[in-house]
Amino acid sequence: MGAIGTLSPYARPKGEAIVSEETLSNLLHEDRSFPPDPAFAAQANGTADLYEQADADRDGFWAQQARTRLTWSKDFGQVLDWSEAPVAKWFVGGELNAAYNCVDRHVEAGNGDRVALHFVGEPQDDTRSITYAELLADVQKAANALKDLGVQTGDRVAVYLPMIPEAVVALLACARIGAPHSVVFGGFSSDALRSRISDADAKVVITADGGYRRGKPSALKPAVDEAVTGDSPVEHVLVVRRTGQDVAWTDKDIWWHDALEAADPECAPVPVDSEHPLFLLYTSGTTGKPKGILHTTGGYLLQAAYTNSVVHDVHPETDVYWCTADVGWVTGHSYIVYGPLANGATQVLYEGTPDTPHKGRWWEIIEQFKVSIFYTAPTAIRTCMKWGKEIPEKFDLSSIRVLGSVGEPINPEAWIWYHDVIGAGKAPIVDTWWQTETGAIMISALPGVTSLRPGSAQIAVPGISVDVVDDAGNSVPNGSGGYLIVDKPWPAMLRGVWGDLQRFKDTYWARFPGIYFAGDGAKKDEDGNIWVLGRVDDVMNVSGHRLSTTEIESALVSHPKVAEAAVVGATDDTTGQAVCAFVILRGDAVQEADEPGEGGDLVTELRNHVAKEIGPIAKPRQIMVVAELPKTRSGKIMRRLLRDVAENREVGDVTTLADSSVMDLIKSGLSGKD
Ligand code: WTA
Repeated sequence: MGAIGTLSPYARPKGEAIVSEETLSNLLHEDRSFPPDPAFAAQANGTADLYEQADADRDGFWAQQARTRLTWSKDFGQVLDWSEAPVAKWFVGGELNAAYNCVDRHVEAGNGDRVALHFVGEPQDDTRSITYAELLADVQKAANALKDLGVQTGDRVAVYLPMIPEAVVALLACARIGAPHSVVFGGFSSDALRSRISDADAKVVITADGGYRRGKPSALKPAVDEAVTGDSPVEHVLVVRRTGQDVAWTDKDIWWHDALEAADPECAPVPVDSEHPLFLLYTSGTTGKPKGILHTTGGYLLQAAYTNSVVHDVHPETDVYWCTADVGWVTGHSYIVYGPLANGATQVLYEGTPDTPHKGRWWEIIEQFKVSIFYTAPTAIRTCMKWGKEIPEKFDLSSIRVLGSVGEPINPEAWIWYHDVIGAGKAPIVDTWWQTETGAIMISALPGVTSLRPGSAQIAVPGISVDVVDDAGNSVPNGSGGYLIVDKPWPAMLRGVWGDLQRFKDTYWARFPGIYFAGDGAKKDEDGNIWVLGRVDDVMNVSGHRLSTTEIESALVSHPKVAEAAVVGATDDTTGQAVCAFVILRGDAVQEADEPGEGGDLVTELRNHVAKEIGPIAKPRQIMVVAELPKTRSGKIMRRLLRDVAENREVGDVTTLADSSVMDLIKSGLSGKD
């Protein structure tokens, strides 16, 4: 397995390994396999012949999927136009409306009484079920309310909401009138919201007074107030009343309930071109500036619906599906809003955290609603493992028949625990690899078809083509590692970075010309299964959330007391990675930090500063004040060495450092402080 250790990874000083040899050899010893259960296979949506059909005629396969799974107001001609690569056009000339596909057609088919959302608020007993017919009524009114505020097809609408039904309604209302939404996760700060609003040039923001978080109302609107003051493209702010807490009011603000009450109840869906922008979603990259990932309508909606059907195995008539993601992330877009609703599924939408008011809350919800398909992140599974299996064992989880994992590699131990404790040793687990940029699931087993390998995302879903390549872009043989790439265009692929075509080309298509590469290292085992090993660029994955080291470094450096900062993602048993920062202070601040007790205050101040600049999710777990940072002769910070320190390991090879004594200085400085 030397291959992977000796690669000189992209955007990394030579010699920094993608993954430690130790991790690799642990993975190599994982050879358990779980064949499909014939009873499950007999009812599964996925079948082995999907692979053959897609391999025989990829475009024909997608055309057939598009015509059977979606309702088009105008049929498409050409399936894929790749003549302006890397900007693809899928289902050329076709017209459709995403909200019509997610709501109206189910009502027209006689399923208006089916529950679309079982909403479970964080305060206990705050639940309500919303049928497809009710959802349709709300979406139409909300779409008219947006129109009444001057929003037209093509205008951008920012959404900053807690996990409440209005979040789903807001997205579908935008889609209904062809106004691309840009959801900003509620955990981001007002500064982060302001920059995303400004980049997208959003006219309207949809928000709430607040949401419930760990038993208390938590305000949202003050952040919006701050983000839209002064020079801002935002003309109006629609405010959902969720917590009833006092809010400041400006002349931009309108209550959501007043606007909906005043709106006309009927709003015809606007048919848009298959390539009409459906949404923007900002994600961290390797530079300090987040990228507005652009997704369009036809291809995105199709792949979200198709994968939700064949990977999660959703049977809309009988299943109760629950994805625990937040609508502020891509998983919430594709696997709470667009995929399951396009399929007419019944799902749980939960506002709160897994441990409020007690650590069995998730399992209690599963028991109460007889959830049959459950999709969550490895970090949550590891947290529940830590709390102990006695907690889920108190609940009846026998309704569960499929389990899913997303956001980061799931270690085999967590996989087995999930399988045994939550899935009663029989529910198949689908470990789904994808990204904000890919729009929908790319790599996953098909339950009922594929034998499962704990810890491996396994193989591309039918219709998708991925590979692992070496530095020169050549496919590596089974048993070797390299870079995970996608070598053929796919329907839900991003269509660009908002307002920056060049950045789109440089970021994803330049490393291997004509091939999509978005930053993960992977290996193929002897059977050709893909094991995703994590990012090889300066992106961290903390609890399945993507954070950029550079973005956090620039937040730290923007503090007047910080001269220089380096941030690394250190391995963390629960969150996968944790943010660890090393800072060099400016002259006068150094003295302050040296005074007894002051250092701790300064660290708190810096952690809070990062929370203000980016959001609480980016707060470093640890900030270490150092006198120097390890740099190569060309001035690049060697994060590998800092990771060794953060993970309490023996520091690795320092020969490429400009000054090899720096690491001793850092280590002695830190131990002196203990
Ligand atoms: C990581 C989330 C291993 C990966 C849908 C990717 C995974 C990044 C998996 C995208 C998985 C996601 N196994 N790693 N099953 N799923 N990742 O854009 O590093 O928030 O590049 O999309 O998460 O994160 P994003």
